[in-house]
Amino acid sequence: MENRPQWGTRAGFILAAIGSAVGLGNIWRFPATAYENGGGAFFLPYLFALLTAGIPLLIMEFTMGHKYRGSAPLTYSKINKSSEWIGWWQVTVSFVISTYYAVIIAWALSYTVFSFNLKWGDDTEGFLFGNYLQLADTPGQLGGLVPGVAIPLVIVWIVTLGVLFAGVKKGIEVANKIFIPALLVLFLIIVVRALTLDGAAAGLNAFFKPDWSQIANGKVWVAAYGQIFFSLSIAFAIMITYSSYLPKKSDITNNAFITGFANSSFELLAGIGVFSILGFMAAQQGVPVSEVVSAGVGLAFVVFPQIINEFPAFNQFFGFLFFGSLVLAGLSSLISIVETFVAGVQEKFKISRTKSVLFGGGLSAVISLLFATKSGLYFLDVTDYFINNFGVALAGLIQVIAIAWFAKELKGLQAHANSVSDIQLGTWWRICLGLITPVVLGYMMFDNLRQNLTGDYGNGDYSREFLFNFGWAIALGAIFIGTLLSLKKWNKQELNKSAKESKEVSQ
Ligand code: ALA
Repeated sequence: MENRPQWGTRAGFILAAIGSAVGLGNIWRFPATAYENGGGAFFLPYLFALLTAGIPLLIMEFTMGHKYRGSAPLTYSKINKSSEWIGWWQVTVSFVISTYYAVIIAWALSYTVFSFNLKWGDDTEGFLFGNYLQLADTPGQLGGLVPGVAIPLVIVWIVTLGVLFAGVKKGIEVANKIFIPALLVLFLIIVVRALTLDGAAAGLNAFFKPDWSQIANGKVWVAAYGQIFFSLSIAFAIMITYSSYLPKKSDITNNAFITGFANSSFELLAGIGVFSILGFMAAQQGVPVSEVVSAGVGLAFVVFPQIINEFPAFNQFFGFLFFGSLVLAGLSSLISIVETFVAGVQEKFKISRTKSVLFGGGLSAVISLLFATKSGLYFLDVTDYFINNFGVALAGLIQVIAIAWFAKELKGLQAHANSVSDIQLGTWWRICLGLITPVVLGYMMFDNLRQNLTGDYGNGDYSREFLFNFGWAIALGAIFIGTLLSLKKWNKQELNKSAKESKEVSQ
């Protein structure tokens, strides 16, 4: 079997890590989640989660990948055989996310094309749910594939799998070197324009004003942690996989800070852009900012087209910039999400990269068609909510507890990171991961679970059965499948090869 692939340059790795982090989470998910959790109420827990959990965990994942040189399952198994299931659980969560993530990129691709003639018209809500998604009346009624979604979806998969076939250096690295600078340029133009619109200040006020009445609500906190983890691609198995391709002599901590701050700056930029634009819209309609948003997954595809209609000039151009940015940001993240299971399956089953991309990526592509049916949006809404709350955020919690408390690995990881990095990690890092994150996230997770068990997600929009099948069953199923995959024994040769590599980096 060939040697472990490696990034060509440091910038290549950083761009790929930023490409993974900056994604639909920053532009599509963030404003909707912030709104659903009380707007201003969200900002404080968000910042807290970023500084005490997001960045420290990113450093931890980078260090794990670099030290143990394996996909997430292999890395966990080398730390402790009994923790391998966590790696597979995270890989399975990524697999689930990839199935619907691709669909949102497909919507964005369609909307990029629609921008040329503002095809959504005046009734953007009716256009999205009726004309475009052809949404079924009742959640669960499949009603066949919607070609307008299925065709761009196939294009998204062809690009993604094409990049992955080409490998780490020639595929992933090259794609990110093109996508990320292009994304930055597109997005900066939008934000600058947004900030100069009438009413922007009121929008920003709504975004930054803390709402103290929500501060003890576990739901809001778990949403904030979930958002941070989603956005930084943490607890997805991604950053462990990506950093396992780093050469031996690579800075870790500094790279993690660069990636973390680039992502958060982008997210804040997106937040500022989105809320300024919402402020503009509120001013146009003479209503408070809180009234212009129909929260939820449709936000980017309902409110944005509406706002683009109201732009004073160059409407088509701004539509193209906005949806084009979504496509670029989404593709570079989808590539990283799929790479987690491509790498995991390749190592465990000892098959070639091509076969692993075909099998893993192909399976996800086929399943993703479910989200291109007339019930697609319902499936997507429920799956996204549950897999993030009880997949990503919960897996992040279990991950820190396993590494800090059970494997007692933090000191070892700290020493490894410090031996190769410019910035030295201090005790603060271990306190964040060993104490603050498990305690705060643990308590909030418990409160969130209690609320979800006593009151149903979606306020009655979904039947209990639907929530069970597409929410709870998928979230619990990911744990189950993860555990099953960890039962298969590793190939001895693969383990020896990997052990030799980790020994080399530790020298
Ligand atoms: N980190 C990726 C995003 O924010 C998954 O969309």
